[in-house]
Amino acid sequence: MTAQPLRPPFGSVLASHMAVASYQGGQWSASEILPVAPIELSPAAHVLHYASTFFEGFKAFRRTDGSVHVFRMDRHIARMRQSARLLVLPEPDPVQLADMVRAVIDRCRDAVPEAPGALYLRPLLIGTTANIGAAATPALEASLLVLASPVWDYFAGGMKPLRILVDDQHTRSAAQMGMVKTGGNYAAAMGPTLAARAQYQVDQVLFCPAGEVQETGAANFLLLREGHLMTRSLDSTFLHGVSRDSLIPLARDQGVDVSERVFTVEEMLAWAKTGEAALSGTAAVLAGVGTLIHRGTEHRVGNGEVGPLTRALRAQLVAIQQGDAPDRHGWLERI
Ligand SMILES: Cc1ncc(COP(=O)(O)O)c(C=O)c1O
Repeated sequence: MTAQPLRPPFGSVLASHMAVASYQGGQWSASEILPVAPIELSPAAHVLHYASTFFEGFKAFRRTDGSVHVFRMDRHIARMRQSARLLVLPEPDPVQLADMVRAVIDRCRDAVPEAPGALYLRPLLIGTTANIGAAATPALEASLLVLASPVWDYFAGGMKPLRILVDDQHTRSAAQMGMVKTGGNYAAAMGPTLAARAQYQVDQVLFCPAGEVQETGAANFLLLREGHLMTRSLDSTFLHGVSRDSLIPLARDQGVDVSERVFTVEEMLAWAKTGEAALSGTAAVLAGVGTLIHRGTEHRVGNGEVGPLTRALRAQLVAIQQGDAPDRHGWLERI
């Protein structure tokens, strides 16, 4: 009998090497590939006081022929540059950052797991200027790092239907900052998420400020039923997911009618009676929701299981990512 491979929790293990570049005097240094090790940082570093930080997350996949392909790196780099602009931090150079990602994948090639695993890429940028009086002054020095982590299932338990608390009291982030992938947004969602977990044993919180459905702490939210998909239209209040942006054209390719619009908790609960609900994101791919809990009442989504449309759409995206279906949209780059 062969031993089961060890599958550490998502993100808990780093691959051996990282890429590093620094910004000083108005320009980026050449990047280097280094063994993963603690980094040196002044205790007065801007990031430690004023949260000048943002990051990205995307995946590279190993095919059965051994080749490795990264998924929609250009979109993640564009989103990273948008985060930089909105946080008034130095923008990573897109050509340099893409080369850093390629170099990390190449150096850590042996660490890319076979399907259904992937190598998760985590670029991050931090403000390093040493000045504890800089609450209203941007960091003029920064470090850019690209980490990698072999990953398997994001949600322990794989395809089990998720329990989600519908929270119409809190916001996940400041309204203009939702589209920025910055640490402060995750810190802000932590308290409500842990409280919801303790009180309702939920997997995630769906933030619905003013009764309008937005997103969860780490994924976008989609409603599905035969021939229809509905998700919130893009605005500054939530993260513009690359998975969302991939699932929509895949659905449209098959004639599914996609509505991107603002919708309310009441509309969602009405849809959920007979339809499906799912979370989309790089980590979760497309994860079915089985139960929505709103103001103390449990609402079953469809029959409470992961729905067939969710499974089918997820399988299509995974097939493209793993090279089992043609990449008609040109989303993959071989490294
Ligand atoms: C808050 C939030 N929303 C949505 C997403 C989904 O984005 P993507 O599909 O680009 O991974 C993520 C994951 O990065 C996230 O952290």
